[in-house]
Amino acid sequence: MSKRAAAALVAGAMVTVLTACGSGGGGSAAKGPGGKLVVGFSQVGAESGWRTANTKSIQDAAKKAGIDLKFSDAQQKQENQIKAIRSFIQQKVDVIAFSPVVESGWDTVLKEAKDAHIPVILTDRAVDSKDESLYASFLGSDFVEEGKKAGDWLVKEYQGKSDEVNIVQLEGTTGSAPANDRKSGFADAVKGEPKFKVVASQTGDFTRAKGKEVMQAFLKSQSKIDVLYAHNDDMALGAIQAIEEAGKKPGTDIKIVSVDGVKDAFTAMSQGKINYDVECNPLLGDQLMDLVKKVKAGEQVPRRIKTEEGTFTPEQATAALPTRQY
Ligand code: AHR
Repeated sequence: MSKRAAAALVAGAMVTVLTACGSGGGGSAAKGPGGKLVVGFSQVGAESGWRTANTKSIQDAAKKAGIDLKFSDAQQKQENQIKAIRSFIQQKVDVIAFSPVVESGWDTVLKEAKDAHIPVILTDRAVDSKDESLYASFLGSDFVEEGKKAGDWLVKEYQGKSDEVNIVQLEGTTGSAPANDRKSGFADAVKGEPKFKVVASQTGDFTRAKGKEVMQAFLKSQSKIDVLYAHNDDMALGAIQAIEEAGKKPGTDIKIVSVDGVKDAFTAMSQGKINYDVECNPLLGDQLMDLVKKVKAGEQVPRRIKTEEGTFTPEQATAALPTRQY
């Protein structure tokens, strides 16, 4: 047995793999019941409301499309995703899909999938591999554009005002595409106006708990905070708790601009606690299953499929709340 095969076998034994229906387990050769297509999907984790909605969308869509989904939760760790992908290769799944927790460090495992002739689809987040032959397609949002939308809103909000605007930024998971791109898109949008100063910027790992903790630290270390830019809603919601506990009014004393557009954030917007939300659509399941079928059938698919997304003011969020799906 080659070293690589042995490593894959160990990885297969270590990773927990669940099917879309909640049954099953890793290790055995993948053959979908009744000749179904088998897809190995490695999810980032369960760090946010967005992620929960994304997981549900993918699991529901697989069921609807009659695809046997082997689902693995990486708990925000790249090493777990690499193990899961190796396990999928070992099981000879038909297609591998994954949402890479960080951008870098995927070439080796993607090459292993390529050598095993298993097509890979990236969903939600991108990788920075130079070799585009390592994956068939990337389905997901334009995170730079999302950051730019947040920055554009800020520029408009403070139009005609010359006082310094002190911004604190809650960044997403370090090294992840949404953290990198939302940061750069935002910086680009505000760079023309020196009054905007990012006085503190730190990761909150896309979670509510960390968002709260880091905001508490910002409130202690910064004498004047005008704006919070959060890379996702969960961190914004955690930060709101910290702001309220510090005796300040979120949305008024400190303006908040965030990304995602989840229901809880819309509720906070309807209460005046978040001033602007840039949408990031997690409902990628149907499109992903469609791509899986095409890729497996050897059809030509676009290398990049961008998700359509909007923006929300508090009024728009309040109106959208009763029918918001996630
Ligand atoms: O990759 C998408 C991002 O990941 C979402 O904005 C965030 O909520 C999630 O954790």
